[in-house]
Amino acid sequence: MKTLLLMTLLLSSGAIFANEEGKELHEESCVRCHGSEMYTRDNSKIQNHFDLRSQVSACANNLGTGWFPDEEKSVVDYLNDAHYKFKQ
Ligand code: HEC
Repeated sequence: MKTLLLMTLLLSSGAIFANEEGKELHEESCVRCHGSEMYTRDNSKIQNHFDLRSQVSACANNLGTGWFPDEEKSVVDYLNDAHYKFKQ
């Protein structure tokens, strides 16, 4: 029982950490041009999870962030959790 509790704690803190990473990367590289108003604008071009991944990838490549795929993914997850809420 104790082990199970510990596992749950570890797993959930892992998830929080992953999202923190996405948030920090986003703040570091992305907010200089647009804040969250870009993600909630009425005429958003982003219709699904695929669009979101493509757009994050395009913006990140334009900037030359040099993000690893898992870093890019954590930013996608962060934006999806915070704003878009698409099913993957
Ligand atoms: C050099 C300025 C600039 C930077 C820096 C930038 N973006 Fe963008 N981004 C834009 C512009 C301009 C648009 C609107 C593009 C359009 O309307 O076609 C946009 C649009 C987007 C959208 C689509 C919003 C929507 O719902 O329609 C997403 C998602 C996005 N950017 C993610 C990011 C991420 C993630 C980063 C950090 C890697 C980033 N952007 C950094 C300029 C930038």
